Amino acid sequence: MKRMTVPAIVRRKGGEPLVMLTAYTARTAQLLDPHCDMLLVGDSLAQVIYGLPSTVPVTLEMMAAHGAAVVRGSYHALVVIDMPFGSYEASPEQAFASAARLLKETGAAAVKLEGGEAMAPTVRFLVERGIPVMGHVGLTPQAVNVLGGYGARGRTPEEAAKIVADARAVAEAGAFAIVIEGVVEPIAVTITQAVACPTIGIGASAQCDGQVLVVDDMLGMFERTARFVKRYDDLGGRIAAAAEAYAGEVKARAFPGSEQLYPARD
Ligand code: KIV
Ligand code: NA
Repeated sequence: MKRMTVPAIVRRKGGEPLVMLTAYTARTAQLLDPHCDMLLVGDSLAQVIYGLPSTVPVTLEMMAAHGAAVVRGSYHALVVIDMPFGSYEASPEQAFASAARLLKETGAAAVKLEGGEAMAPTVRFLVERGIPVMGHVGLTPQAVNVLGGYGARGRTPEEAAKIVADARAVAEAGAFAIVIEGVVEPIAVTITQAVACPTIGIGASAQCDGQVLVVDDMLGMFERTARFVKRYDDLGGRIAAAAEAYAGEVKARAFPGSEQLYPARD
């Protein structure tokens, strides 16, 4: 199966919804890959993998290491890597150096960065130099220290208009797709109708051109989750139950059993 390309993603605008999940490790990528058009190496690895309080401390080194693992574990999905906070905001040149490093060190095909009108010149700079960019508007977690939290965005008319303007700016700058996160639904519908590229919703709308979720959230691996998360499994509960069963058997000397032991020769 040939790997998805950026033009193939763009052609899905208004068509069959795009399926995207985050992935951080090779084995998880391998399991998700046949079912996903895109895998996002999200900077959500801050909380999901590293137990950090926000995505602010994430480094390029962390994104490159996990990005390479996800590329190694996948064959079909387009792999998109988040640009971490502090690696792209200062200038288009800084963004290019960081994004080029991520693509060169991982083999991924695209990056994602947060921001709207202020980041549009940077998006254009990267795209014109060969780096496909996915935008991310609405609730932008890297801006938590400005926003003051992770609440839904766009509840006032001014904020709603700003988010739509942000999405338009990023789309017109050449983004191949835009994540819309944590907004009241009509904003996501308006943006999806207003921009030429596919929109990928998370806490947005089923009318978006695709959806993304954090894989640990949808598997039931993470304790605190947002309203927009749907749990498709309880892996957390199943892992705890497996550990409990193992502990019981170790203490009862029921593990290892004869099937796990090497018989002596003759
Ligand atoms: O880091 C992440 O997982 C993301 C998705 C929630 C879109 O940016
Ligand atoms: Na992210």
